[in-house]
Amino acid sequence: MSLDIAAVRAAFPALALTDDGVPRGYFDAPAGTQVAGRVVDAMRHALIDACANDGGHFRTSVAAGAICDAALQGAAAFYNCAPDEIVFGLNTTSLFFQFAPLLASDWRAGDEILLTRMDHDANVSPWLQQAQARGLTVRWLPWDRETHALRLDLLPELIGPRTRLVAVGQASNYLGTINDVAAVCAAARAVGAISIVDAVQAAPHILIDVAAIGCDMLCASAYKFFGPHAAVMYLSRGLQAQLHPLKVRPSVDTMPTRFSPGTPSFEAQAGTLAAIEHIAWLGDQEGTATTAPLRQRLVAGYDAITAHEADLSRRFLSGLAGIKGLTLHGIANANRLAERVPTFTFTVEGRDSGALAADLAARNIFVWSGYYYAWEPAGVLGLRDGPGAVRIGLSHYNSMAEVDGLLDQLVQVIG
Ligand SMILES: Cc1ncc(COP(=O)(O)O)c(C=O)c1O
Repeated sequence: MSLDIAAVRAAFPALALTDDGVPRGYFDAPAGTQVAGRVVDAMRHALIDACANDGGHFRTSVAAGAICDAALQGAAAFYNCAPDEIVFGLNTTSLFFQFAPLLASDWRAGDEILLTRMDHDANVSPWLQQAQARGLTVRWLPWDRETHALRLDLLPELIGPRTRLVAVGQASNYLGTINDVAAVCAAARAVGAISIVDAVQAAPHILIDVAAIGCDMLCASAYKFFGPHAAVMYLSRGLQAQLHPLKVRPSVDTMPTRFSPGTPSFEAQAGTLAAIEHIAWLGDQEGTATTAPLRQRLVAGYDAITAHEADLSRRFLSGLAGIKGLTLHGIANANRLAERVPTFTFTVEGRDSGALAADLAARNIFVWSGYYYAWEPAGVLGLRDGPGAVRIGLSHYNSMAEVDGLLDQLVQVIG
């Protein structure tokens, strides 16, 4: 299966932009991808044809309600859950902070939570702060510096009868490692603890299945998967029943309103649905019938993404291996590509990562340097302070020619 990369790139208006005739090399996807044209169209439609609050009798209000319904259905197919298990929000960090006090309301001193040394801080601080305020013991799941995998063998000694919450990332925004979140959630479930999955870096690359993962809550951000600045969360019915949301008296106590204070961003919901449809469209390109259920089209879309990104990753990794003094902080073995997303973080001996990123920016190549709020993993590596590491992220809209060009430029910049 191979993507028609020309058709894919044509689906993203920003990819055609040049600056003084120089094309843009977008390798900043882990911080935010480019936006599919259909997302822009859907948001424009929401803001022009359906600009009203929902719940009214008139045309634009009915249209806004229809957008909301369709987005809930689409998000449910995206995660493999029911529409009444979906919560939209501003971003993943805000949603986790919104839910942390609700989850922690019955935590007692001496209870425990388990966090990982691999996670983005959005999946650490919201739970950590509640735990510290209530006198809980915080346990940490480390990762192995050779394999770049979580030490799942330690779960039996880190999770016990006092564990109330376990939070884990599905893919690391620093190392790129894909974690066996189903195993972590199963361990949490076995002791009655709530499991939280941060799927922000998984969603652009791999199919998410909350039923298979067995988590209570999972969140991803649409701006990382070709959509607008918004987040979409799975909240199991079981967990919903245990929580008491903060809400104004007039608002109804049923989904989708129950955990969404105030008026939602209908335009962001429209854009998020369009981003999901973009991934389904990739599946259609591979021959899936457009009339097939959305979930089936998404399965095919992600298959196409995975195959293309594996090709790009193989080429990129072999190029990186030839650069003297470069240390990749993540899985380098091309036989282990199924265990990583194409997010590559590295340092170069004797070189300032910020200066390298700036040199690439001067060549219109967009990459990040620093630690990207991955406070824990960067701390483990001693790379939190100072210029940190360079991070290059590949996306399904990157072409092989772009990867070759990037490697050439990298070699020149590193010298
Ligand atoms: C793994 C991971 N989790 C959470 C976040 C935070 O997402 P948001 O900006 O939607 O709060 C990010 C952002 O980079 C991330 O990479």
